[in-house]
Amino acid sequence: MAEGNDSKRQGTGDLEHPRTIEWLGDRVRLIDQTCLPGRLVRKEITDYRELAESIRRLEVRGAPAIGVAGAMGLALAGLESEAGDFEELLRDVKEAAEHLAGTRPTAVNLRWAVDRVLRSATSEAGGDPEALRAALVDEALALTEEDRELSRSIGRHGAALLSDGDTVLTHCNAGGLATAEYGTALAVVYAAVEDGKTISVFADETRPLLQGARLTAWELGERGIDVTLLVDSAAASAMSRGWIDKVIVGADRIAANGDVANKIGTMPLALSARRFDVPFYVAAPFSTLDAGLASGSEIPIEERSPEEVTTFGGVCTAPEGVRVYNPAFDVTPAGLVSAIITDSGVFRPPYGETLFAGGRGGRA
Ligand code: MRU
Repeated sequence: MAEGNDSKRQGTGDLEHPRTIEWLGDRVRLIDQTCLPGRLVRKEITDYRELAESIRRLEVRGAPAIGVAGAMGLALAGLESEAGDFEELLRDVKEAAEHLAGTRPTAVNLRWAVDRVLRSATSEAGGDPEALRAALVDEALALTEEDRELSRSIGRHGAALLSDGDTVLTHCNAGGLATAEYGTALAVVYAAVEDGKTISVFADETRPLLQGARLTAWELGERGIDVTLLVDSAAASAMSRGWIDKVIVGADRIAANGDVANKIGTMPLALSARRFDVPFYVAAPFSTLDAGLASGSEIPIEERSPEEVTTFGGVCTAPEGVRVYNPAFDVTPAGLVSAIITDSGVFRPPYGETLFAGGRGGRA
């Protein structure tokens, strides 16, 4: 079996979970994930357009984290606008909402968060511009706090599925870095470890942007959790050898029939897991559920630039001008998913109404 790293801190009670993105009163502070694992850089942003660019560049990424970023972006837009009149301010904020929500199309959390903050703040403000500015900040903070709680709930519900000594395989980064704090797929691991279980993780490197290598391996290592890095194409081999007890991944959008959009390379993992009888779990908060889409075929899939595939570490690795297919996400059919772990419980197919009628209600 592959060599593991030293895991000296497992089973020592609560782990430390730094905040991925925070509101500092008049600005946003976020961990610039493009600098990891080399440097832990925190960046402060006062302009919503700059925050939108951070989302586009994946400085902040992961479905719940970009939802929080979008919400804080609207709070910034309210503070930035010089409008003295309510209607004028609302026009500026709505323009910001479209700009922020348009940065990444697949994770529904972004559009959901922006719409929620806009709707709630507008109805709170009673036509007063200063009240609107304050309400945008308040709602963004409420959403951020809720995201932290949702991650903890996902962890608590999912931890029951893990046994002491389990090895979990995960893809991309669905950890603390992908949420306001704590994670979704990795929340399950953290909660199990905080319960005293010893859990090891196999982290797919996640081509082409290496979220698994740069972020998941880093954050697990920081928390003292045993992690083995493997190239995406080695996952089936690890499963065939019986090394993997469970696969747990996050999600960017889950359609009404339970189809799951997540980082490209998730569907092949689900197929391999089915072939080798490994349970395949998806962990996500209710804000990732999209009852408005009947199936995964309706989920918009972001395509990113060819350079992400034709270069590696700044070095050209493909013939100049070659045609490239670079989807950022794929859709795993519901039939390959053993269960969906949400903040309101663990749901197994057939989902019927249950998934969307969970404690927090899902969204229509
Ligand atoms: O392109 P990214 O890095 O934003 O993609 C992230 C993922 O695919 C995650 O698995 C998903 O957003 C869930 S994060 C809790």
